[in-house]
Amino acid sequence: GKVAVLLGGSSAEREVSLASGNAIVAALKSQGVDVIAFDPAQRNISELTALNVKRVFIALHGRGGEDGTVQGALEFMGIPYTGSGVLGSALAMDKIRCKHLFESAKLSTAKYAVVDKHSGYDAKAIIKELGQVMVKPSHEGSSVGMAKAQDETSLIEALNAAFKFDNQVLVEQWIEGREFTVAILDGQPLPVIEMRTPRGFYDYQAKYKETTTEYICPAELTPAYTEQLQVMSLHAFELVGASGWGRVDAMQDANGQFYLLEVNTVPGMTETSLVPKAAKAQDISFEQLVVRILEQTL
Ligand code: DAL
Ligand code: MG
Repeated sequence: GKVAVLLGGSSAEREVSLASGNAIVAALKSQGVDVIAFDPAQRNISELTALNVKRVFIALHGRGGEDGTVQGALEFMGIPYTGSGVLGSALAMDKIRCKHLFESAKLSTAKYAVVDKHSGYDAKAIIKELGQVMVKPSHEGSSVGMAKAQDETSLIEALNAAFKFDNQVLVEQWIEGREFTVAILDGQPLPVIEMRTPRGFYDYQAKYKETTTEYICPAELTPAYTEQLQVMSLHAFELVGASGWGRVDAMQDANGQFYLLEVNTVPGMTETSLVPKAAKAQDISFEQLVVRILEQTL
């Protein structure tokens, strides 16, 4: 039956999703799949039935696509789709609730504070408690709206920038160290990737615009650290109710301690994105990867 790749959408990550979705459409076409691209920002998702779509590959990033809403609509329409279900998608898109879950499961994660746009906050107290911090809108992706802050003034500035995207903002203690990611495919972790950037952190620019970002896969970690990180990532993935495929991001400080950052249920899927890189390190081509993810709908 016909497959629709959902791409674009109206989140702040629309451009990234178009790149992911178009790469997926091309890969599926090359494998002889009857596929159409479908942008929910341009047409109503209820049209999928009239188009005789039998399965959906979700390539939407961010709110209104990665957060359980589209998953719920597809459940209602009875159309099978790739990746996580409603609950896992919704939880993974909520960084603050993920922190609560990580803590309850005793999974290592950075100390943090939660700031609500409509309640007051004490910037001085936050800096006093956490020191240097990373400010993150709770429901965004691709580092949109994120900034580092080290004093009261820069924290207020970073919060005001984050409030443009979200009413709930996560303020995390800054972890000085190395940045890693673990792709998950069919319940198994793929080889670990380390991201290195001369920018302060792996931000939007470093992700999509820079040629200075380095990717090391498999990451240069001891076998014991690699296993520790993979086990922890898979645990986090399952804890939030994610399934099928995704990617878990983490940091490691100078003492070797890992800290979970977050779970992504529809990670970037351009040919140079992280999950495809990890798959390649395990001899899975981009086309094979896309087909394996699509097979989750069977
Ligand atoms: N949110 C982006 C697409 C990622 O996690 O890769
Ligand atoms: Mg993310």
